[in-house]
Amino acid sequence: MTTRRFSDLPEYAFPRLRALLAPHEPGGPEIAMSIGEPRHPLPELLAETLARHAHLYNKYPPIDGTPGWREAVGAWLIRRYGLAEGALDPDAQILPLNGSREGLFSAALALASGEKNGERAAFLLPNPFYQVYAAAALAIGAEPVCVPATEASGWLPDFSTVPQDILRRTTFAYYCSPTNPQGAVASLDALSQVMALAETHGFTVAFDEPYSEVYRGDPPAGALQAVAAGAADPERVLVFNTLSKRSNAAGLRSAFVAGGREAIGAIKRLRAYSGSPNPIPALHAAEALWRDEDHVIENRRLYREKYALADEILGGLPGYHAPEAGFFLWLDVGDGEAGTVHLWRESGVKCLPGAYLGRGDPRFIGGENPGARFMRAALVETPEVIRPGLEAIARLLKEQEGQTP
Ligand SMILES: Cc1ncc(COP(=O)(O)O)c(C=O)c1O
Repeated sequence: MTTRRFSDLPEYAFPRLRALLAPHEPGGPEIAMSIGEPRHPLPELLAETLARHAHLYNKYPPIDGTPGWREAVGAWLIRRYGLAEGALDPDAQILPLNGSREGLFSAALALASGEKNGERAAFLLPNPFYQVYAAAALAIGAEPVCVPATEASGWLPDFSTVPQDILRRTTFAYYCSPTNPQGAVASLDALSQVMALAETHGFTVAFDEPYSEVYRGDPPAGALQAVAAGAADPERVLVFNTLSKRSNAAGLRSAFVAGGREAIGAIKRLRAYSGSPNPIPALHAAEALWRDEDHVIENRRLYREKYALADEILGGLPGYHAPEAGFFLWLDVGDGEAGTVHLWRESGVKCLPGAYLGRGDPRFIGGENPGARFMRAALVETPEVIRPGLEAIARLLKEQEGQTP
């Protein structure tokens, strides 16, 4: 039941999509492009390692994981971001999460205040955004401030445009790169600028990086690189990552948060009361996956095939931009809800209206929801499955321009 505290939260995106499409018959067999659930094969390591440790399901797991898991995640972070050996103390600076979604929520509960300087606190969010960010703000009584991440701002939120009276009362911010849904990547410089703003105004930033391993060109920069370069007090910065996209293991619910000792200590204290620890067999499986890059390289190869397919079918059409990373297309179709219904009726392709991932915020771009014109399409199925989906999207984009051949 919705409580008063959460009554500002709209219905979640997927029930809204079901309600939108329910009155309409699909124009063909369903082509699933709405949900960001990886469909590539699971690494064999996963089942093998789980099976080998299945006898440990009888144990209550420790909230901070196993020493092997912590060591594996710490070593991955150092390798991936070229950090100095010893830059992170895995025992004090890394915690396991049951998927990053719940961690993004509970970290804010542990660290942020609902009030600052005698005023209601503000949480800065990108807009559109991953929906748990707003729930976390409301949970502590803070005001979600949704900062547009549009083409004009390079598909990233520019927090420096937030009015001073809001920055003064900001206690927490979420910043996602590579972005869902636009597929943009923040430069090291952009990450450092967010940190500089956090230093000036005294807030904490949760850097949400679940798509860090799914990219086209060079590996995206990570927030820990900016911390290593001295951009902020490490206590202001939290980094979240997950095996859901990197290893196609969304159902394992295995992720981590890394950050300053005090911040991680505070999150751990709260989680000792209310957190749900990862089962020990799952920690062993996760350890094996973080130590292995071969399956990640293969995964990226499969996504790169699909970036190429999207470029081939949609390249040059109005409303399409090639994503740099992640596995979504963010398509300007003029009216995302109408486009989604049209595609479904015409060809059975199921996408998600961009409006369901954004909010109108009266303080920015005239209060419009920056997702309203857009539709999100996930490149998770095989190229054979998504090809006809992309062709149907191409027809829609051409119709937008009145260019139907
Ligand atoms: C931007 C973003 N953050 C976080 C998550 C949560 O991932 P998980 O809870 O599976 O680790 C997702 C999942 O789709 C996401 O798109």
